Amino acid sequence: MVFKELASYIKTIRFYKENPTSYLGSKAYNTPNAKYFGIFKDTDLIAATSYVKLTDNLAMMQSTMVEPKHRGIGVGRYLNEQMEEYLKSQGYGKIVSHVYIDNLPSIILKLKLGYIIEGTLRDHDVEGQDEYILGKILN
Ligand SMILES: CC(C)(COP(=O)(O)OP(=O)(O)OC[C@H]1O[C@@H](n2cnc3c(N)ncnc32)[C@H](O)[C@@H]1OP(=O)(O)O)[C@@H](O)C(=O)NCCC(=O)NCCS
Repeated sequence: MVFKELASYIKTIRFYKENPTSYLGSKAYNTPNAKYFGIFKDTDLIAATSYVKLTDNLAMMQSTMVEPKHRGIGVGRYLNEQMEEYLKSQGYGKIVSHVYIDNLPSIILKLKLGYIIEGTLRDHDVEGQDEYILGKILN
C-alpha cells in the first residue's frame, strides 16, 4: 500500500461519488482549501481522506473512506496513521474529526488510534443527525 498526496482532487471526488454515502460526496465538494490524500494498491485508489487547516496547530480530518471491498484489513488504520505523521511533519499539534454518532466503525477506529470524544454537535450537518467531535493531541 502506498500513501500519496493527490495532486488533483478530481479523481478523489469521483471515488467518493461512486460510493453510497452522499455525506462524503457533498463534503468532498463543499470544503474549500482541503488537501486530499489516498492509499493506492498498485495503481488503484482504494482509500482517500482530506484535511483542512483550522489554525496553525489544528487540522480537521474529514471525508475518510476505504473502498468497501478493502475494509477490515487495516487500510483505514494505515491511512489515519500516515495522515498523523504527515500532519506532525507539517507542524500540527492536534487533529479533530467530526463523526456521526451512529458510525461505529469510524468511532471505534478513532478511539483505537487514541482519539478522545471531546463533545457532541447536535443537528450539525443534517437535522436529526448528531456528530461527535473526536480529537487527538499529536506528540
Ligand atoms: C471507517 C472506515 C474508514 C474503517 O476502515 P477499515 O479499513 O475497514 O478499518 P481497519 O481495517 O483499518 O480497522 C481499524 C480498526 O477499526 C476497527 N474497526 C473497523 N471497522 C470496524 C467495524 N465495522 N466494527 C468494529 N470495529 C471496526 C477494527 O477493529 C480495527 O482495529 P485494529 O486496528 O485494532 O485491528 C471504513 O469502514 C469506511 O470507509 N467507512 C465508510 C466511510 C465513513 O463512514 N467514513 C467516515 C466519515 S467521517
